[in-house]
Amino acid sequence: MNESLENYLLTHIDPEPELLKELVRDANVNLLHPRMISGHLQGRLLKMLVQMINPLHVLEVGTYTGYSAICMAEGLIREQALIHTIEKDDEMETFIRKYLNQSEQKEKIRLYMGDACDIIPKFDDDFFDLAFIDADKRIYWKHYELTLPKVRKGGFIIADNTLWNGKVTQKVDSNDWQTKGIIEFNDKLKEDIRVEKVMLPLRDGLTFIRKK
Ligand SMILES: C[S@@+](CC[C@H](N)C(=O)[O-])C[C@H]1O[C@@H](n2cnc3c(N)ncnc32)[C@H](O)[C@@H]1O
Repeated sequence: MNESLENYLLTHIDPEPELLKELVRDANVNLLHPRMISGHLQGRLLKMLVQMINPLHVLEVGTYTGYSAICMAEGLIREQALIHTIEKDDEMETFIRKYLNQSEQKEKIRLYMGDACDIIPKFDDDFFDLAFIDADKRIYWKHYELTLPKVRKGGFIIADNTLWNGKVTQKVDSNDWQTKGIIEFNDKLKEDIRVEKVMLPLRDGLTFIRKK
């Protein structure tokens, strides 16, 4: 999308909350990969999707700064509803807690520090109404396979970055394990009869999956 269309779009949707603007400024100055943050458009979409699905329990694989967790928590409607978000990088914990603690959503977010591969199996089967997979692209399929049993029938999984900057259609370097991981995920998901799926070219590609 060109810059003027993007500006038009961002000025015709709900504004980004002030705390999230501050989080993004802080990330741009102090973090190595601020582009990993969902950002204004995708953040407002995540909030809207949560409102539409009206979940009790949401799983997020890959917290990074907490931006998307806060956006999803904004969309929670039910009294006891919670976002369970997992982050492996312990150097991010101070940053995440700085913003969660300032957020009106802080009571609705549970942060788990550790490897999602160890933490996801600890949840009960059929526990989540919605999961957002947004962590290590090299093992997207593994995170998906761990997550699927934990999502109830009729529940949803959203996978981010499934177009991976367009690299999914290009020749892949033999050592580009992230692109290979995304391609593996997209190819296996296509054949997965346990779910319905649709992929949208929003931002870096978002795939919506519904467990049958
Ligand atoms: C793309 S960022 C998440 C962005 C965030 N969801 C957002 O939209 O603002 C991916 C995060 O996943 C984390 N991560 C990678 N592998 C992980 C794993 N196995 N378990 C938990 N977190 C992991 C990384 O440390 C990184 O912070």
